[in-house]
Amino acid sequence: MAELHEIAKQALTEIENAKSLRELNDVRIKYLGKKGPIQEAMKIMKDLDEEGRKAFGKLANDTKNAITEALEAKERVLQEEELKRKLEAEKIDVTLPSRKQTLGIAHLTQQVIMEIEDIFLGMGYTIAEGPEVESDYFNFEMLNLPKGHPARDMQDSFYITEELLLRTHTSPVQARTMLKYQGQGPVKIICPGKVYRRDDDDATHSHQFLQIEGLVIDEKITMSDLKGTLAYFAKKMFGEEREIRFRPSFFPFTEPSVEVDVTCAKCLGKGCPMCKHTGYIEILGAGMVHPNVLRMGGFDPEKYQGFAFGMGPERIAILKYGIDDIRQFYTNDLRFNHQFNRML
Ligand code: DAH
Repeated sequence: MAELHEIAKQALTEIENAKSLRELNDVRIKYLGKKGPIQEAMKIMKDLDEEGRKAFGKLANDTKNAITEALEAKERVLQEEELKRKLEAEKIDVTLPSRKQTLGIAHLTQQVIMEIEDIFLGMGYTIAEGPEVESDYFNFEMLNLPKGHPARDMQDSFYITEELLLRTHTSPVQARTMLKYQGQGPVKIICPGKVYRRDDDDATHSHQFLQIEGLVIDEKITMSDLKGTLAYFAKKMFGEEREIRFRPSFFPFTEPSVEVDVTCAKCLGKGCPMCKHTGYIEILGAGMVHPNVLRMGGFDPEKYQGFAFGMGPERIAILKYGIDDIRQFYTNDLRFNHQFNRML
């Protein structure tokens, strides 16, 4: 029992002298570990009578408890000291200016696509997609442009094989969507995507650009539905004061076909140098879906009518933001991109 007292005294001194949490842990293992002196001293118990065992056992427990308590108390002190030392070493000057966080943003073309999508989603349209590598069949034939049709020359194409090409417009998604609906209306979709043409790049042409296609098929759809839809779109996109007009045009997949102009941003229709004194600026092509196209897509033209349109988001962005060169969208000059960062 005297030995236990001695062990306790020694342990308490070592605890007192421990300078770090690690040293303290060494002391814990040394005295309370399985091979520690208390455990060792307790081996004597088997040779004691009952009374002796009781007395010795109690003292052994008290000793352990005393050491444990001392360890815990010292641990708290050392932890606090360590924290204080850390706080002192790592002084933070909260008055320093922070590092600038730069966030990525959606590219202007993407922003415009999202804006256009929002307007049509609000009118109950859904978004369709199709492949950029397209078959001649969907890109042309299903759109009433059989092989050898002169109107194919309107769209110079990148052919991969005889039958495969990079799609020249998003219109093949019309045909794909019609087949998906299996002759059952209503259909109300828009399809944004990349298209490709063999054009020489200049301020107004790019061999790769974007289009958004629209297709509506239902019973009793008329040209006034088309006009109302596009007038609503133009006002939402460009401003309430803007008006649209239809000009007769030709596309093989629509009959009648129109080109749609919006009143000039600057003169609102009066005529000025910006609109070459016409008062209007062209924004898209559209028309009533040709009966041949409906039929090939599996829709009965006696029952269903439809309208379709195709617009270029870059052109819309150019008109809306006064951009002077379509190549600005693709050269990835961050100074250009960040002009349209609404979060800066
Ligand atoms: N696909 C035509 C083009 O790329 C644009 C277009 C015109 C799409 C009229 C249409 C449409 O859906 O009805 O020039």
